[in-house]
Amino acid sequence: MGRLAGKVAVITGAGSGIGRASAELFAQEGAKVVCADISGEEKDAAAAIGAAAAAVHADVSVSADVQRIIAAAEDNFGRLDILFNNAGFGGPKKLITEQTEEDYDRVLAVNLKSVFLGMKYGITAMLRTGGGSVINTSSAAGLVGWEKNAIYGASKGGVIQMTKAAALDFAQQGIRINALCPGMTWTGLVPGSRENPLPPTEGYRPPAPMARWGLSSELATAALFLACDDSSFVTGIALPVDGGYVCP
Ligand SMILES: NC(=O)c1ccc[n+]([C@@H]2O[C@H](COP(=O)([O-])OP(=O)(O)OC[C@H]3O[C@@H](n4cnc5c(N)ncnc54)[C@H](O)[C@@H]3O)[C@@H](O)[C@H]2O)c1
Repeated sequence: MGRLAGKVAVITGAGSGIGRASAELFAQEGAKVVCADISGEEKDAAAAIGAAAAAVHADVSVSADVQRIIAAAEDNFGRLDILFNNAGFGGPKKLITEQTEEDYDRVLAVNLKSVFLGMKYGITAMLRTGGGSVINTSSAAGLVGWEKNAIYGASKGGVIQMTKAAALDFAQQGIRINALCPGMTWTGLVPGSRENPLPPTEGYRPPAPMARWGLSSELATAALFLACDDSSFVTGIALPVDGGYVCP
């Protein structure tokens, strides 16, 4: 029996990187998985899994799209147990004086409003069947400052505080809510990663104590821990998975 046998999961940003690796791992562990993305790659992700998956083309910053994602879990698989609000992007890396108001609105919409919408509609669905686990992807940049990433950091810090407050609100209703904080991870967000699925062993090394890139699979196993009953007494945390980056 897999650790997610009988469970139904929604994963946003499932077309690439951490979301894609998590969709594959959750399915291996017995879950039915709704793969949502804006890129079109959600179809490939779902097709690779097979009958245990459904694809939804959606923009997570749009309320009607998020409602369609949640409905897809209930319509295809009858319930929702796990919600992985993972879709996000870095936005432009610039000084705050050079960022535009449009930059601000888009980064906050995709990285933070999406988490609000996911929890608003996802937790409502979970309450219909008695509980579940929510994982919200923040970042090491939600815990410490990153240069030229003020707006991104604000969005990811917001994810952590939204996670903690919501965890308090639903702790006695069988719903655990945690944040995942990746450090520098070799995913589609990183230039060159599409051409090279594995990170280079020479040249630039991320400034973490382990001095290497994280792998999507290493974030997926952490997400699995938060999704399944192995973490049954864990709620309201922001879990760094970052090679020690936020430790010093
Ligand atoms: N890779 C890193 O170093 C790193 C570090 C910290 C946090 N993160 C976070 O991890 C999460 C996953 O990113 P990743 O690293 O796997 O990158 P990725 O680019 O490989 O995957 C992100 C996916 O999200 C999708 N997406 C983006 N905007 C969307 C939208 N509006 N609606 C629906 N889908 C959308 C993209 O199409 C993509 O498939 C993001 O929230 C990111 O901010 C990544």
